[in-house]
Amino acid sequence: MKYLIPLWLLLSALLVSWEVSPEDGLFYQPDGWPKPSYNFETNPISHEGFLLGKALFYDPLLSKDSTVSCASCHLQYTAFAHVDHPTSHGVDSRVGKRNAPGLMNLAWYPYFHWDGGVLGLNGQAINPITHPDEMGSTLEDVLKKLNRNPTYRKAFQNVFKTDEIKTQHILKALAQFTVSLVSANSKYDQMKRKELAFSDQEQRGYTLFLRHCNQCHTEPLFTNFKFKSNGIGPHPTLKDEGRSAITGKEKDALTFRVPTLRNVEHSFPYMHDGRYGKLKEVIHHYATASMWKLPVSSELKKKNISLNSDEEKALLSFLKTLTDKAFLLNSTFGYFSLK
Ligand code: HEC
Ligand code: HEC
Repeated sequence: MKYLIPLWLLLSALLVSWEVSPEDGLFYQPDGWPKPSYNFETNPISHEGFLLGKALFYDPLLSKDSTVSCASCHLQYTAFAHVDHPTSHGVDSRVGKRNAPGLMNLAWYPYFHWDGGVLGLNGQAINPITHPDEMGSTLEDVLKKLNRNPTYRKAFQNVFKTDEIKTQHILKALAQFTVSLVSANSKYDQMKRKELAFSDQEQRGYTLFLRHCNQCHTEPLFTNFKFKSNGIGPHPTLKDEGRSAITGKEKDALTFRVPTLRNVEHSFPYMHDGRYGKLKEVIHHYATASMWKLPVSSELKKKNISLNSDEEKALLSFLKTLTDKAFLLNSTFGYFSLK
């Protein structure tokens, strides 16, 4: 009997040490959030795997001429979006046709890219590595460079117990880093956890948001991951068909996956083609239904929104409560090199 209490103490100490906190950088499940879509059994996350993925994410070696890294287009301070160019900017200064989205809470994404054309995070990185407008490389070339490098060989050996680095190891290491980018500590989250209260203006904005926006930008991820048209109309030159390029269905033409609004204050420019530089412009677009162009998804069309300038300001204040400074400034996600 006298051993029972120390044993219980030991067990609870072990349990506490197993819990991962946001500061550790590794994936964690925020309270009240749905179950992630990502299957962690396919790629168990370890601290070493996360570090290796992070080193790859920041290493321009993955591009054909060692000039562009993942982080060139996905900068931490802007929620891993790219703020310099409306659409992405890759090797040889080539410009792509889509805006680089922010990267956060990817564990909950059922599919990736603006058109949902990529089904899993474990394979996603093949696209930027080999896309001529992004990193313009080949998997053979990247594998050759990494296998020549003793530091990487050792790190891959350590994480994946392999003497030869293969494509799946690169992709899985990158996914260990990107799946760990959880952002769930904004003012909004703190308000939900009752740690603080919104100002009157933020609260008014939140009420408007719930009425007009939440149906598509659904809490807590601020997206329902559906493919919709929000009335911005087609880009004049890019000829991006959106979802219908994947499904071949006319009804999907010019629909795009609803983007998350977490950290949206920092992830400008906005929309799949980066056409709006300012959040104010986006709000004004929604505030004036008479400006909408076709197609517009029915949820929005039914709302026929008309907001006055005070309401637009309130909505802006609310969207700013989705900024998670702890995430944007968390040094665990910052520049890292194994060398
Ligand atoms: C030249 C700029 C550029 C580089 C370099 C780049 N990306 Fe991206 N990234 C983009 C763009 C643009 C998209 C959106 C693509 C689309 O919708 O067709 C994207 C999408 C993504 C997504 C999906 C996000 C979502 O919302 O669905 C992930 C994950 C991602 N990138 C990770 C990476 C990783 C990992 C690397 C490095 C191996 C990388 N990116 C390199 C521009 C870039
Ligand atoms: C019918 C669903 C729907 C509703 C309702 C809706 N949106 Fe959107 N929203 C979208 C889609 C789809 C996009 C991306 C469109 C594109 O890129 O072509 C988007 C994009 C955005 C963006 C740009 C995000 C980024 O990272 O580029 C912001 C900001 C935004 N919406 C805010 C709002 C606000 C505020 C409301 C309410 C007034 C609202 N939305 C209502 C579907 C919706």
